[in-house]
Amino acid sequence: MRVYTSKAELSAFISKQSTPSFSLGFVPTMGALHTGHLSLVNTALAENTLVVVSIFVNPTQFDNPNDLNTYPQTLTEDIQLLETLSKSTILVYAPTIEDVYGSKIKVEHFDFGGLESQMEGKFRKGHFDGVGTIVKCLFEIVKPNKAYFGEKDFQQLQIIKKMVQITQLPVTIVGCPIEREPNGLAMSSRNSRLSDEEKKSAALIYKTLQSVKEKFKSKKHSDISYWVTTEFSNHPLFELEYFQISESKNLVPIQQKKQTKYRAFIAVFVGDVRLIDNIALN
Ligand code: PAF
Repeated sequence: MRVYTSKAELSAFISKQSTPSFSLGFVPTMGALHTGHLSLVNTALAENTLVVVSIFVNPTQFDNPNDLNTYPQTLTEDIQLLETLSKSTILVYAPTIEDVYGSKIKVEHFDFGGLESQMEGKFRKGHFDGVGTIVKCLFEIVKPNKAYFGEKDFQQLQIIKKMVQITQLPVTIVGCPIEREPNGLAMSSRNSRLSDEEKKSAALIYKTLQSVKEKFKSKKHSDISYWVTTEFSNHPLFELEYFQISESKNLVPIQQKKQTKYRAFIAVFVGDVRLIDNIALN
């Protein structure tokens, strides 16, 4: 498998591949790959000639230094996992901070039309400017035709679609369904930091979202929010950071129920590990 640490070498290889029907897929990741990432890569492989997987823990999207310092880094295992999918049609880009950002890290400020002020944006200051900056930068390096993102980070997916609209970069954004552990826990690189007991208990997050979906058919959203808060406040392992029901298209919190699509979003601390999840409600 070809593994590049230099954007110049990666670009040189890609520019040699241009046959008429050539299509380049891209899966940006921060590594610690799991079945969720592999499913994105498989979708990308099915739709493109070649797929670039970037593995880069982007410092500018972390508001919490502890979260950055403890973010799992498993490059050797990540490459081995990707090799089980394909050795010849996947390229890995695992750059240094300098290769991506140059000698001085600059974070671009974006106006995402309000998407950035909800949920993750509210609780992680500057997070989406960091995400927008790195994804734009990676798109400019890789120049993919299509890029693949998981719906676990549904807000991030909307932000990236908006960034592409603002910057007019010629890339199609493909959202892919959430992959889950057998107990329903959404797959995440951060799950590797949970103890067995925490992993087992974290099934409550998706179980709660499933009940929310059921309750949403008949109950008031304020009653549902109260119920979710109570579920978590009674639990010794969890601390609920937010629960929010929002319109899917613009993430505006629900007020009066309208004829539109809604989603429920949740962020929970299990010890110092922060987990997020979401579910379509209608
Ligand atoms: O979702 C992630 O893993 C990251 O936010 C991304 C998109 C790779 C940007 O660093």
